[in-house]
Amino acid sequence: MTDTQLIQLARSMMERAYCPYSRFPVGAALLCEDGTVFTGCNVENAAYGSSICAERTALVKAVSEGRRGGFVKLAVAGGGEDFCWPCGACRQMLWEFAPELEVLAANGMGAFRSVPLARLLPHGFGSAQLEK
Ligand code: THU
Repeated sequence: MTDTQLIQLARSMMERAYCPYSRFPVGAALLCEDGTVFTGCNVENAAYGSSICAERTALVKAVSEGRRGGFVKLAVAGGGEDFCWPCGACRQMLWEFAPELEVLAANGMGAFRSVPLARLLPHGFGSAQLEK
């Protein structure tokens, strides 16, 4: 799967977004090393803080299907000119399972930037810290 294809999948997931409050649809596509892709969209709630981002939806779908590693790339697509970078909570959740992940952040114009998660979350907190 090419980067462009993964981004296209993320972009197509924007149609599934449930975002009546922000009106900001986001789609995500998480690629595994065996080629499997888990997709997600943001799902909002009237109690705003209960909402979940597209990236975490995709990750939680993958983990709930038995995946705990082997994640290679995550594409995130939003609208507008700005690239859709994962929020802090999503970076931390992704770090737990995929510190080596490559993040492809796309905008609404079809452009994207590719950055390692480790650059988006320097010195991420992980299970190793809890053992000391
Ligand atoms: N959102 C995502 O799903 N992913 C991001 O990377 C940024 C923000 C969602 C959360 C909320 O539903 C809406 O976009 C506006 O913040």
